[in-house]
Amino acid sequence: MRTKLIIFVHDSIGYLRLRKFLSRVMEITRANILLLLKLIDKYYLKIHFMINQNDIHKIVLHSTDACNTNCKYCSRGVPFVKRKRSYSASEFVPWLNFLIKKNIKFTSISISGGEPFLHPNIFDFVDELKYNYPDKIIRLTTNFFWANEETIKDYAPKLKNLDNLVISKYPPILEKCGGNDQFDSLVKLFKQSCPHVNFEVYNQSNFTSWELRKQKKSINTICTTEKANCYTLGPEGIMTRCVIACGARNISQYKSILEMNNEYFFDLKKWNKKKFLNFVHKFPFDLCEHCTFTHYKSENWRLEDRLKNGELTSTDD
Ligand SMILES: C[S@@+](CC[C@H](N)C(=O)[O-])C[C@H]1O[C@@H](n2cnc3c(N)ncnc32)[C@H](O)[C@@H]1O
Ligand code: SF4
Ligand code: SF4
Repeated sequence: MRTKLIIFVHDSIGYLRLRKFLSRVMEITRANILLLLKLIDKYYLKIHFMINQNDIHKIVLHSTDACNTNCKYCSRGVPFVKRKRSYSASEFVPWLNFLIKKNIKFTSISISGGEPFLHPNIFDFVDELKYNYPDKIIRLTTNFFWANEETIKDYAPKLKNLDNLVISKYPPILEKCGGNDQFDSLVKLFKQSCPHVNFEVYNQSNFTSWELRKQKKSINTICTTEKANCYTLGPEGIMTRCVIACGARNISQYKSILEMNNEYFFDLKKWNKKKFLNFVHKFPFDLCEHCTFTHYKSENWRLEDRLKNGELTSTDD
């Protein structure tokens, strides 16, 4: 009986020790797994960034300064451009090739302006881009001012090389078309005539107001233009970081602010990959502290009146 008791006590102590030992092992394993997950998370993000840092997603080409709509707060400052020019795709091709050669990745080329359909030959512009970059998505944004049944039938076959079309829906163009239903039926006709094109239609009855202020204010929020990847390439090989940075150059009152800041543009002629990657990924950059776009003050769409009332002037003056 005594021996049995001794064996029982001995076994129990052994069992308790084993349990303690096992639970300690489990505790250590759990802590190590958590540590490993944290490390994977940290390094995955780092590795992910390192792999993708060459990818700038989209390059915007300013096809023309011409526009007939004159929106107040146009991000590209188009109403302030007096000497309107249009540019050919071949002016951009050497710079796009240069970026590809430097292993900078982008999936789409976006044709903007101004109003691309006021370009003297927008169809050749699209064709030349597709011919040179068959694997890129060729995208174009228009205010649709030109749309009626005849022009749609005429233009559709000429846009065979276009992949995406973005239509901005503005109050004066809606009115010109005869109302919302007529506008939508023209979009429908265009979609049917270009089944290979991906369409996006955006209601632009409100615009985000913006200005550049001399006094700086730190930015602690995101910016929709920044998120939209609007790296705009100029024909002289200068890339601007966002649409506002590009458009503000047309307004003389912003000249002195732009001169104080140099992170908003990059001259491809002075190539340095490390500096370029810093330029494309840095946010906020110096100009953001002067810019009110992140306040996201939305206003009803209206015509640009600040040039007429002398509040702002053009850099062309
Ligand atoms: C600069 S426009 C050029 C293409 C064409 N003229 C158009 O308006 O569709 C490109 C896009 O930016 C948008 N945009 C320009 N300024 C804006 C602002 N201040 N707020 C919101 N969207 C704006 C236009 O509505 C358009 O969809
Ligand atoms: S947003 Fe488009 S339509 Fe309006 S002024 Fe600017 S370029 Fe012209
Ligand atoms: S806050 Fe910066 S990124 Fe955004 S629009 Fe202004 S300058 Fe461009």
